[in-house]
Amino acid sequence: MALVPSYIQRLANYKPGKPIAEAQRELGIQNFIKLASNENPLGSSPKGLAAIEHSLTNLHRYPDATGYELRTKLANRFNVKIDNVVLGSGSEGIMSTIMRTFLLSDDELISAANSFIGFRVLANASGRRVHWVPMKNYCYNLEAMADKITDYTKIIYIANPDNPMGTTITRQEFDEFYKHVPGRVLIILDEAYYEFAKDSPNYPDSMSYRYDNVITLRTFSKAYGLAGARIGYGFAHDSLIQNLMKVKVPFEPSLTAQVAGLAALDDEAFLAETLQVNKKGMAFLKQEFDALNIHQVPSEANFITTVWDSEEKASQLTQSLLENGVIVRQLTGFGWPNCIRISVGLESENQKFIDTLKDIL
Ligand SMILES: Cc1ncc(COP(=O)(O)O)c(C=O)c1O
Repeated sequence: MALVPSYIQRLANYKPGKPIAEAQRELGIQNFIKLASNENPLGSSPKGLAAIEHSLTNLHRYPDATGYELRTKLANRFNVKIDNVVLGSGSEGIMSTIMRTFLLSDDELISAANSFIGFRVLANASGRRVHWVPMKNYCYNLEAMADKITDYTKIIYIANPDNPMGTTITRQEFDEFYKHVPGRVLIILDEAYYEFAKDSPNYPDSMSYRYDNVITLRTFSKAYGLAGARIGYGFAHDSLIQNLMKVKVPFEPSLTAQVAGLAALDDEAFLAETLQVNKKGMAFLKQEFDALNIHQVPSEANFITTVWDSEEKASQLTQSLLENGVIVRQLTGFGWPNCIRISVGLESENQKFIDTLKDIL
C-alpha cells in the first residue's frame, strides 16, 4: 500500500515466546510449563501486586505524567537526582522514546546482529540505516562495532547481559570501546538483567561509571516479575532526560505500573528469593547440560542458550518438548536457528524440562 513506507512494509511481526494459552489451544494439553520468555517463575512481587490492587479505585484518574514518586525513589536508591531518571512502559518504551527524540533523518545506528529483538524492531522501524555487527564467540564484538562509527552515527545499543546469549562485556572492554565513541553519539546500555548479573565479578554495573552520553536502561519486568505491568526506568545526564520527558507519551507509564514499581522496589524479600531461585536453577541446568554433553553458552542472566548441530535438530527438540508440555524458545527469530534458549524456572519446572529432554534425547 502506497501510504506505508517501504521500510515498514519490510518489517516482520514480532514473534514472542509461545503464550501458554496458545500452546493449550494448539495441542490440547493443559499443564504447560513456559521457559520461553525470561519471565519470573515465582510470579510478581507481592508488594507490587498489593499496590496495584489498592490503585484500582483510582483508575478513573490519569497517572502522574512526571512519575514524581517513583523517579524520586529511584534517584535516592541509585544516588542520582530526579532529573537523571526517566520512566517508561518497560525499558522498550524508553527505547522507543529515545528513537523519537534523538534521530535526525541521516542518522545511523550500530548494534550487534542477532541480539535483542525488541531493539531490532525499533531500529528497523525508525527507517534509519543500522549497522548490525556480527557477534564473536556469542559476545558483542565491540572492536568491530567501533569500526562502524562514522560522522552519521547517532545511537549505539549494547545489551549487557545480552539476550539471547546471556554473555556480558567487562568494564575494561567498555572503556576501551568508549575511547572511539564521539560525545555526540548516544550509547544505550540495556541492563534488563542487571539484578541477575550484578554479583558476578566481571559484570560492570554502569551506575558506577557514568558518562554524559550513556543512558542506562533497567526494568521491573524480570527480577520483580512485573513484565505484564510494563514498567522500566533509565538513568542519564539531565539534558538527555529533560528531552526524553518532552517526547515520551505523556501518561506513560500507566498508574498501575507506577504504583507497582514503587512498591516492588521495597520488596527485598521477593528480590532475594528470585535471585536465589535463579542461582540454584542456573547451576542445576548448567550441570545437567554438562552431564549430557550439550553445548551451552555461559550466561549471567535468568536464561541459558544451548547450541545444537543444526536448525533441524533444534527445531525437532523444541517441537518435542512442546508436545510434552514444555515451552522453550528456538532462536530462529533472533538469527540463531540452531540454538534453543531456556529460561530458568522453578526447581520442579527445571527438573521436568531436564527429564523430558533426557527422554527425547
Ligand atoms: C535485553 C532486553 N532488554 C529489554 C527487555 C524488555 O524489557 P521491558 O519489559 O522492560 O520492556 C528484554 C526483555 O526480554 C530484554 O531481553
